[in-house]
Amino acid sequence: MKVSFRLNGGQVDVDVRSDALLVDLLRGLGLTGTKETCGVGSCGVCTVLVGSDPVSSCLYLAGCADSADVWTVEGLTDLEPALVDAFVQHEGMQCGMCTPGAEVAAYALRGQMPSAETDEVRTFMSGNLCRCTGYASILAAVKAYLDAP
Ligand code: FES
Ligand code: FES
Repeated sequence: MKVSFRLNGGQVDVDVRSDALLVDLLRGLGLTGTKETCGVGSCGVCTVLVGSDPVSSCLYLAGCADSADVWTVEGLTDLEPALVDAFVQHEGMQCGMCTPGAEVAAYALRGQMPSAETDEVRTFMSGNLCRCTGYASILAAVKAYLDAP
């Protein structure tokens, strides 16, 4: 099936199998910032934006992206250098596996709740699991990003 959508601000027209997953399509297009670990929607590592909503691309059929506006970590961090700066300054990563998904979720949070309090940040980011850092540094990074000009 043919899928046409906006990806990081550019137009993409591709043929995909009807059972193709968005994570595989994105990685096949060279956007390997989007990772996959659990593959069952539990960890948030594969989070991308579809419209303004963070979605697990390991569960999202590529065909459902037709006509959508999709953003990956590559596009969002180009758009928002403050997002990367906050994670670097607050050491919000170790292995970095969860970082793309966490940054995409943080971007969505700033769009939906720019004045989020600590508990709201925790709740919003609760689907983004990290196996390395502990969450204090990630929380600090997201809070700093929300406060960035
Ligand atoms: S890899 Fe998609 S939620 Fe874990
Ligand atoms: S930094 Fe390694 S999983 Fe989060």
